Amino acid sequence: SDAFTYDPGFTSTASCESKITFIDGDQGVLLHRGYPIDQLASQSSFLETCYLLLHGELPTASEYETFETTITRHTMLHAQFDRFFEGFRRDAHPMAIMTGAVGALSAFYHDSLDIQDATQREISAHRLIAKMPTIAARAFKYSVGQPFVHPKNNLSYAENFLRMCFAVPAEDYVVDPALVRAMDRIFILHADHEQNASTSTVRLAGSSGANPFACIAAGIACLWGPSHGGANEEALNMLKEIGTPERIPEFIAGVKDRKYKLMGFGHRVYKNYDPRAKVMQTSAYEVLAATGRENDPLFLVAKELEAVALKDEFFMERKLFPNVDFYSGITLSAMGFPTTMFTVLFALARTVGWIAQWKEMIEDPGQKIGRPRQLYTGSAARDFVPVSQRG
Ligand code: CMC
Repeated sequence: SDAFTYDPGFTSTASCESKITFIDGDQGVLLHRGYPIDQLASQSSFLETCYLLLHGELPTASEYETFETTITRHTMLHAQFDRFFEGFRRDAHPMAIMTGAVGALSAFYHDSLDIQDATQREISAHRLIAKMPTIAARAFKYSVGQPFVHPKNNLSYAENFLRMCFAVPAEDYVVDPALVRAMDRIFILHADHEQNASTSTVRLAGSSGANPFACIAAGIACLWGPSHGGANEEALNMLKEIGTPERIPEFIAGVKDRKYKLMGFGHRVYKNYDPRAKVMQTSAYEVLAATGRENDPLFLVAKELEAVALKDEFFMERKLFPNVDFYSGITLSAMGFPTTMFTVLFALARTVGWIAQWKEMIEDPGQKIGRPRQLYTGSAARDFVPVSQRG
């Protein structure tokens, strides 16, 4: 067994070769297909970024138009699918619903099970990107007891999603363009992040030849954990618990005593400011201004907490900086989402990254089933003892 390298948490193991996303954690750099995340967040749109992640290049105007038409063509869910939601308890966590519902897509699209067919792989990618907002919005509507709103395909990806979440049928839904822009930017910021836990889960599941819907459901299950995508929900809960800037020193003391972690801080790869967090902070300002909540007490707590932590030796020694989840919760909350939807939005946006990584893996001629080994630390071989002779 000594022949294997032991690398708990895979801190120094590259599991694949990839051309999709580059991170330099020391410099705080994140590039998708070579393009810096801040440029994509300020100049691109989520759908355009999806195309970039999937195809490797930014689309021409006509390529973009075709892509957008294709995605909007796939936004509907089969009417039978709606009954699926009703099987869940009213108070089910929407992430529980997402894991089940997305996995169930493989029961609806049998043609996608042929993963060797490049056309089917492409269609599966389109279906997933297109249907995630519809499924996520239904999970939300179900939890608040409102009827489902069908997709409206002349709206942008982000606006259509907001409408499916917040429009009450028969009412003309008008959303502030600042919120649409913020939603789109949040999606861009979460679109991909190389071999994080959920993406590695998708690749490992996919390495056995499992169908793409099953693989993405596995990714969603992994994302739910509080150390990963669940952190945005935990971060907002933490800010609420702190409540006022005066309580920050007491809270920080608890972190140092290791009673709890500062959620939304720290990252396995970034040992510098997470470049996504910077954009997210700007977005938070914009959304709070658009919703008249500039003086939101949680925002004041977050800003003060960040300032205190960035001056504190404990955090600086360990190179702990705000990550993407530190400000996302405040932004989503101001947009009207309950905390239980935060990780769902992360999953919605990360779907393109997962599926792009899955496709890259399937199309890699060197691809093998993922099969890590172990260092066995259990009992040596011994003889079975019948129950009558066990002391
Ligand atoms: N608050 C307090 N201490 C921390 C934190 C934190 N948020 N993060 C790390 N540390 C400490 C940790 O206790 C350890 O200290 P020591 O060396 O004295 O034992 C040191 O910093 C190194 O941490 P680690 O646990 O070895 O780091 P890791 O790379 O295994 O963990 C992490 C990375 C993101 C899981 C962790 O920083 C964390 O739990 N952060 C809070 C949860 C969070 O915000 N997650 C979202 C990550 S970004 C979005 C995403 O990709 O999902």
